[in-house]
Amino acid sequence: MAVHLIEHPLIMTRLTRIRRKETPPEIFRSNLDEIASMLIYEVARDFKTVEVEIETPISKTRQKTLDSQKFCLIAILRAGLGMIPGALKMIPNTSIGVIGMFRDEKTFAPVEYYCKLPGDIAESRILIVDPMLATGGSASAAIDLLKRKNSKPITLISILSAPEGIARIQKDHPDVEIFTPAIDEKLNDRAYIVPGLGDAGDRIFGTEV
Ligand code: PRP
Ligand code: URA
Repeated sequence: MAVHLIEHPLIMTRLTRIRRKETPPEIFRSNLDEIASMLIYEVARDFKTVEVEIETPISKTRQKTLDSQKFCLIAILRAGLGMIPGALKMIPNTSIGVIGMFRDEKTFAPVEYYCKLPGDIAESRILIVDPMLATGGSASAAIDLLKRKNSKPITLISILSAPEGIARIQKDHPDVEIFTPAIDEKLNDRAYIVPGLGDAGDRIFGTEV
Protein backbone atom coordinates (compact mmCIF):
# COMPACT_ATOMS: atom_id res chain seq x y z
CA MET A 1 0.00 0.00 0.00
CA ALA A 2 1.08 3.54 -0.63
CA VAL A 3 3.38 5.74 1.40
CA HIS A 4 2.24 9.34 0.90
CA LEU A 5 5.15 11.73 1.38
CA ILE A 6 3.50 15.09 2.12
CA GLU A 7 6.34 17.55 1.53
CA HIS A 8 4.21 20.68 1.75
CA PRO A 9 6.13 23.95 2.37
CA LEU A 10 3.89 24.91 5.32
CA ILE A 11 4.44 21.51 6.90
CA MET A 12 8.20 21.50 6.23
CA THR A 13 8.56 24.92 7.90
CA ARG A 14 6.82 23.69 11.04
CA LEU A 15 8.72 20.40 10.98
CA THR A 16 12.01 22.30 10.86
CA ARG A 17 10.85 24.32 13.89
CA ILE A 18 10.08 21.22 15.95
CA ARG A 19 13.37 19.56 14.96
CA ARG A 20 15.37 22.46 16.49
CA LYS A 21 16.66 21.41 19.87
CA GLU A 22 16.04 24.87 21.38
CA THR A 23 12.32 24.82 20.53
CA PRO A 24 10.41 24.86 23.86
CA PRO A 25 7.46 22.53 24.55
CA GLU A 26 4.77 25.18 23.97
CA ILE A 27 6.09 26.00 20.47
CA PHE A 28 6.71 22.30 19.80
CA ARG A 29 3.09 21.51 20.72
CA SER A 30 1.52 24.30 18.66
CA ASN A 31 3.53 23.39 15.55
CA LEU A 32 2.83 19.68 15.99
CA ASP A 33 -0.84 20.56 16.30
CA GLU A 34 -0.80 22.47 13.01
CA ILE A 35 1.12 19.70 11.21
CA ALA A 36 -1.44 17.17 12.45
CA SER A 37 -4.28 19.28 11.02
CA MET A 38 -2.55 19.60 7.67
CA LEU A 39 -1.80 15.88 7.45
CA ILE A 40 -5.44 15.04 8.20
CA TYR A 41 -6.41 17.46 5.44
CA GLU A 42 -4.30 15.36 3.03
CA VAL A 43 -5.59 12.04 4.39
CA ALA A 44 -9.14 13.29 3.88
CA ARG A 45 -8.78 13.70 0.11
CA ASP A 46 -10.45 10.32 -0.44
CA PHE A 47 -13.21 10.76 2.16
CA LYS A 48 -16.62 10.27 0.58
CA THR A 49 -19.13 13.10 0.29
CA VAL A 50 -22.87 13.21 -0.27
CA GLU A 51 -25.04 15.94 -1.70
CA VAL A 52 -27.43 17.76 0.62
CA GLU A 53 -30.02 20.37 -0.13
CA ILE A 54 -29.41 23.71 1.60
CA GLU A 55 -30.58 27.25 1.25
CA THR A 56 -28.15 30.15 0.91
CA PRO A 57 -29.40 33.73 1.44
CA ILE A 58 -29.86 33.76 -2.34
CA SER A 59 -31.36 30.40 -3.38
CA LYS A 60 -31.84 26.70 -2.76
CA THR A 61 -28.92 24.53 -3.89
CA ARG A 62 -27.49 21.01 -3.61
CA GLN A 63 -23.96 20.94 -2.19
CA LYS A 64 -21.43 18.41 -0.92
CA THR A 65 -20.65 17.45 2.63
CA LEU A 66 -18.91 14.49 4.29
CA ASP A 67 -21.04 11.34 4.25
CA SER A 68 -21.98 9.53 7.45
CA GLN A 69 -18.78 7.43 7.60
CA LYS A 70 -17.62 7.19 11.21
CA PHE A 71 -14.00 7.87 12.07
CA CYS A 72 -11.94 6.75 15.00
CA LEU A 73 -8.70 8.49 15.89
CA ILE A 74 -6.26 6.24 17.72
CA ALA A 75 -3.42 7.94 19.60
CA ILE A 76 -0.40 5.85 20.56
CA LEU A 77 0.59 7.18 24.00
CA ARG A 78 2.16 9.34 24.97
CA ALA A 79 3.29 11.29 21.94
CA GLY A 80 0.23 10.53 19.79
CA LEU A 81 -1.83 12.68 22.18
CA GLY A 82 -0.03 15.73 20.79
CA MET A 83 -1.70 15.14 17.41
CA ILE A 84 -5.27 14.68 18.63
CA PRO A 85 -6.30 18.37 18.97
CA GLY A 86 -5.02 19.20 15.47
CA ALA A 87 -6.76 16.16 13.99
CA LEU A 88 -10.03 17.03 15.77
CA LYS A 89 -10.03 20.51 14.25
CA MET A 90 -10.37 18.85 10.82
CA ILE A 91 -12.71 15.97 11.77
CA PRO A 92 -14.46 16.95 15.01
CA ASN A 93 -17.13 14.28 14.69
CA THR A 94 -14.95 11.32 15.58
CA SER A 95 -14.41 8.93 18.44
CA ILE A 96 -10.99 8.60 20.06
CA GLY A 97 -9.10 5.58 21.34
CA VAL A 98 -5.73 5.37 23.06
CA ILE A 99 -3.13 2.63 23.12
CA GLY A 100 -0.27 3.00 25.60
CA MET A 101 3.07 1.64 24.41
CA PHE A 102 6.62 2.22 25.53
CA ARG A 103 9.77 0.80 23.98
CA ASP A 104 11.90 -1.64 25.93
CA GLU A 105 15.25 0.15 26.37
CA LYS A 106 17.34 -2.85 25.30
CA THR A 107 15.30 -4.63 22.63
CA PHE A 108 13.30 -1.55 21.44
CA ALA A 109 10.29 -3.87 21.30
CA PRO A 110 6.99 -2.20 22.23
CA VAL A 111 5.42 -2.95 25.60
CA GLU A 112 1.66 -2.34 25.78
CA TYR A 113 0.52 -0.86 29.10
CA TYR A 114 -2.93 0.57 28.37
CA CYS A 115 -5.70 0.27 25.83
CA LYS A 116 -9.06 1.99 25.75
CA LEU A 117 -11.00 1.83 22.49
CA PRO A 118 -14.38 3.36 21.69
CA GLY A 119 -17.49 1.18 21.36
CA ASP A 120 -17.96 2.04 17.67
CA ILE A 121 -14.47 0.84 16.68
CA ALA A 122 -15.79 -2.02 14.50
CA GLU A 123 -17.75 0.26 12.17
CA SER A 124 -15.28 3.18 12.04
CA ARG A 125 -12.48 4.04 9.69
CA ILE A 126 -9.34 4.05 11.81
CA LEU A 127 -6.72 6.80 11.67
CA ILE A 128 -3.71 6.11 13.90
CA VAL A 129 -1.69 9.14 15.01
CA ASP A 130 1.83 8.87 16.39
CA PRO A 131 4.50 11.50 15.62
CA MET A 132 7.35 8.98 15.37
CA LEU A 133 7.70 5.91 13.16
CA ALA A 134 11.17 4.66 14.17
CA THR A 135 11.65 0.85 14.19
CA GLY A 136 7.93 0.60 13.42
CA GLY A 137 7.46 -1.80 16.34
CA SER A 138 4.91 0.34 18.23
CA ALA A 139 2.81 1.12 15.17
CA SER A 140 2.91 -2.50 13.97
CA ALA A 141 1.78 -3.81 17.37
CA ALA A 142 -1.01 -1.19 17.53
CA ILE A 143 -2.20 -2.18 14.04
CA ASP A 144 -2.15 -5.90 15.05
CA LEU A 145 -4.39 -5.07 17.99
CA LEU A 146 -6.75 -2.88 15.93
CA LYS A 147 -7.10 -5.46 13.16
CA ARG A 148 -8.54 -7.85 15.74
CA LYS A 149 -11.36 -5.31 16.31
CA ASN A 150 -11.90 -3.86 12.85
CA SER A 151 -11.60 -5.05 9.27
CA LYS A 152 -11.76 -1.66 7.54
CA PRO A 153 -8.71 0.01 5.99
CA ILE A 154 -6.32 1.54 8.52
CA THR A 155 -4.32 4.73 7.95
CA LEU A 156 -1.14 5.53 9.88
CA ILE A 157 -0.21 9.21 10.21
CA SER A 158 3.29 10.04 11.39
CA ILE A 159 5.18 13.35 11.61
CA LEU A 160 8.61 11.81 11.11
CA SER A 161 9.55 8.38 9.79
CA ALA A 162 12.69 6.28 9.50
CA PRO A 163 13.24 4.03 6.47
CA GLU A 164 13.32 1.08 8.89
CA GLY A 165 9.85 1.95 10.25
CA ILE A 166 8.34 2.35 6.80
CA ALA A 167 9.83 -1.01 5.74
CA ARG A 168 8.51 -2.71 8.89
CA ILE A 169 4.93 -1.53 8.31
CA GLN A 170 5.08 -2.43 4.63
CA LYS A 171 6.23 -5.93 5.58
CA ASP A 172 3.88 -6.55 8.54
CA HIS A 173 0.87 -4.62 7.23
CA PRO A 174 1.09 -4.09 3.48
CA ASP A 175 -2.58 -3.02 3.44
CA VAL A 176 -1.97 0.03 5.69
CA GLU A 177 -1.56 3.46 4.08
CA ILE A 178 1.10 5.71 5.61
CA PHE A 179 1.03 9.53 5.53
CA THR A 180 4.23 11.28 6.57
CA PRO A 181 5.92 14.55 5.61
CA ALA A 182 9.49 13.23 6.02
CA ILE A 183 11.50 10.03 5.84
CA ASP A 184 14.81 10.66 7.61
CA GLU A 185 18.22 9.04 7.07
CA LYS A 186 18.35 6.17 9.55
CA LEU A 187 18.08 5.04 13.17
CA ASN A 188 20.98 5.42 15.57
CA ASP A 189 22.17 2.66 17.94
CA ARG A 190 19.45 3.65 20.45
CA ALA A 191 16.80 3.38 17.71
CA TYR A 192 16.29 7.15 17.60
CA ILE A 193 15.59 8.74 14.23
CA VAL A 194 18.58 10.61 12.72
CA PRO A 195 18.49 13.60 12.39
CA GLY A 196 14.98 13.33 13.86
CA LEU A 197 13.72 15.57 16.63
CA GLY A 198 14.65 13.61 19.76
CA ASP A 199 12.11 11.98 22.04
CA ALA A 200 8.72 13.24 20.90
CA GLY A 201 6.98 12.41 24.19
CA ASP A 202 9.58 14.29 26.22
CA ARG A 203 9.43 17.28 23.90
CA ILE A 204 5.63 17.49 23.99
CA PHE A 205 5.28 16.95 27.72
CA GLY A 206 8.40 18.91 28.73
CA THR A 207 9.92 15.87 30.46
CA GLU A 208 13.23 16.12 28.56
CA VAL A 209 16.28 16.02 30.84
C1 PRP B 1 7.73 6.89 20.75
C2 PRP B 1 6.74 7.29 19.69
C3 PRP B 1 6.31 5.97 19.13
C4 PRP B 1 7.53 5.12 19.30
C5 PRP B 1 8.16 4.93 17.96
O1 PRP B 1 7.11 6.47 21.92
O2 PRP B 1 5.69 8.05 20.18
O3 PRP B 1 5.19 5.42 19.78
O4 PRP B 1 8.44 5.82 20.15
O5 PRP B 1 9.21 4.04 18.04
P1 PRP B 1 9.19 2.64 17.28
O6 PRP B 1 8.73 2.92 15.90
O7 PRP B 1 10.62 2.21 17.35
O8 PRP B 1 8.27 1.73 18.02
P2 PRP B 1 7.94 6.11 23.23
O9 PRP B 1 8.13 4.62 23.30
O10 PRP B 1 9.17 6.96 23.29
O11 PRP B 1 6.94 6.48 24.37
P3 PRP B 1 6.39 7.93 24.81
O12 PRP B 1 5.58 8.48 23.66
O13 PRP B 1 5.56 7.62 26.00
O14 PRP B 1 7.58 8.81 25.15
N1 URA C 1 10.70 7.68 19.57
C1 URA C 1 10.93 9.01 19.62
O1 URA C 1 10.26 9.74 20.35
N2 URA C 1 11.93 9.50 18.87
C2 URA C 1 12.68 8.73 18.06
O2 URA C 1 13.57 9.26 17.38
C3 URA C 1 12.41 7.35 18.02
C4 URA C 1 11.41 6.86 18.78
